[in-house]
Amino acid sequence: MMGRAMTITLAVANQKGGVAKTTSVASLGAALAELGHQVLLVDLDPQACLTFSLGIDPEDLEASIHQVLTTRLDVGEVIYETEDGVHLVPATIDLARAEADLLTRTGREHVVKAALEGLTQGEDAYDWILLDCPPSLGVLTVAALTAADGVLIPLQCETLSHRGVGQLLDTVHDVRRFTNQGLEVWGVLPTLFDGRTTHARTVLETISETYGLDVIEPPIPKTIKFAEAPAAGRSILSTSRTSKGAQAYRDVAAALVGRAAR
Ligand SMILES: Nc1ncnc2c1ncn2[C@@H]1O[C@H](COP(=O)(O)OP(=O)(O)OP(=O)(O)O)[C@@H](O)[C@H]1O
Ligand SMILES: [Mg+2]
Repeated sequence: MMGRAMTITLAVANQKGGVAKTTSVASLGAALAELGHQVLLVDLDPQACLTFSLGIDPEDLEASIHQVLTTRLDVGEVIYETEDGVHLVPATIDLARAEADLLTRTGREHVVKAALEGLTQGEDAYDWILLDCPPSLGVLTVAALTAADGVLIPLQCETLSHRGVGQLLDTVHDVRRFTNQGLEVWGVLPTLFDGRTTHARTVLETISETYGLDVIEPPIPKTIKFAEAPAAGRSILSTSRTSKGAQAYRDVAAALVGRAAR
């Protein structure tokens, strides 16, 4: 679907490590592209896992999102096409310095929003921009939330997995108050879900009740296929087209499109 009136920018965030933020960004991006949407993914993690998993070696790059955020390089200079049909703004390890470089800068919360400005309006606007946040609540995550219309919270449904959620929601409330009034929580996305245990369901219900969050369906099942995709430089949607995990991400992407249409 081309020529949407408005870009929807989603931050995929959770300061807890290893909850499938990056996997969700890559897979939802590929699923939205399959639906014919124009999609831009932005790697905001100095570890550059998203960049790497989409087949681009950060070591080969002269510039990345880092220079866009810290030296006002135009973002158009660092947009790459990937084999998954999505566009990518990559990260490099330089980005590890961005937190420190930005710390003394006025308006640092707005650097991601400013960088994306030309991509969210006009003829060349993307339908979706997905922001892959690092596992922290530092400057980069706050800047991502400031640039976003909504936030998706991937959550592994295990005991104690909710322990960071309150803190993340506090950050969301601060962002709403100070830098981005319109930020909406789109919900929790259950990942690495083991449907054989009732435990996973219970954890999920507790979290959605405790924090009043929507749960995005269906949950993404835990499957070995996900471990193989990044090495191929493609998302699981291409490497394992018919797997349950790929299908779950397609269903979630359709749910996001449904919500966007509302
Ligand atoms: N549904 C799944 N089933 C099995 N393994 C998965 C699934 N989703 C993700 N993984 C694996 O879990 C690991 C962590 O995933 P991922 O890198 O996406 O998490 P992350 O939240 O981005 O991590 P970080 O906080 O370090 O950025 C990876 O090895 C990934 O391949
Ligand atoms: Mg990640």
